[in-house]
Amino acid sequence: MVLRFFPQKEKYTPEDAQFVFDPEGSVPKHVAIIMDGNGRWAQNRRLPRIAGHKEGMETVKKITKHANRLGIKVLTLYAFSTENWKRPEDEVKFLMQLPVDFFDTFVPELIEENVQVHVMGYEEYLPAHTQDAVKRAIEQTSKNDGLVLNFALNYGSRAEIITAIKQMAQEVKEDELSIEAINDEIVGDHLMTGFLPKELRDPELVVRTSGEERISNFLLWQLAYSELYFTKALWPDFDGDHLEAAIASFQQRNRRFGGLNKEDKK
Ligand code: FPP
Repeated sequence: MVLRFFPQKEKYTPEDAQFVFDPEGSVPKHVAIIMDGNGRWAQNRRLPRIAGHKEGMETVKKITKHANRLGIKVLTLYAFSTENWKRPEDEVKFLMQLPVDFFDTFVPELIEENVQVHVMGYEEYLPAHTQDAVKRAIEQTSKNDGLVLNFALNYGSRAEIITAIKQMAQEVKEDELSIEAINDEIVGDHLMTGFLPKELRDPELVVRTSGEERISNFLLWQLAYSELYFTKALWPDFDGDHLEAAIASFQQRNRRFGGLNKEDKK
């Protein structure tokens, strides 16, 4: 018999962070998060993977409230990718039920917090009960004008870019768009973040939890100049202090957008 050992808990605390958050310092307007590590969090506790997703949903609630408090304008969360359908049927079923449970229990608080819900992705392929819950939540929070809580649900960035290219090609064909007019802004208008005001479309900070350091088909166009932050914390362990640690790191970055610092121009 082979016995597998799972470490009891592998928790990375914000104290591991290099920088201290400055509440007076700049806060990124748009933060995007790849929420990873739910499965490992559950396995570390000898629980089924779905227990990790359930706990991950609680983290979404906490982080939404904290982001709002910090003055973040858009929080984009990668909840389900176009590739996640490859997971076992039971897990996919659970993941499709999560938005239903989330919105059923959390919309009143979202309304109180003035949060507007948005979903980007190929929603038409979601099960009917998931689509209904999403539609209801969007409708119920549509009058709010605070933080935009933007779920990437059945989202994949390459597919998003292909859809945008096809739309632009169609518009060119129908003489609604000239080839010469296609620029960054026009492409941005055709992407799934196009519903946001221009200055908020691209995340300034992208966070990935669980120690994996890759982008996994997330916002490939939009993150051209984003600051990337990777933490070993598993998503269910991620809390407000971890978010502040990520922003503390952002506050130390020297963002040049391909240019130079003023003092280096001389
Ligand atoms: C990745 O962890 C996580 C997901 C694929 C699902 C993320 C979903 C949530 C955090 C809950 C979302 C909540 C709402 C309201 C939609 P993993 O399963 O790949 O973890 P592992 O890499 O440790 O196996």
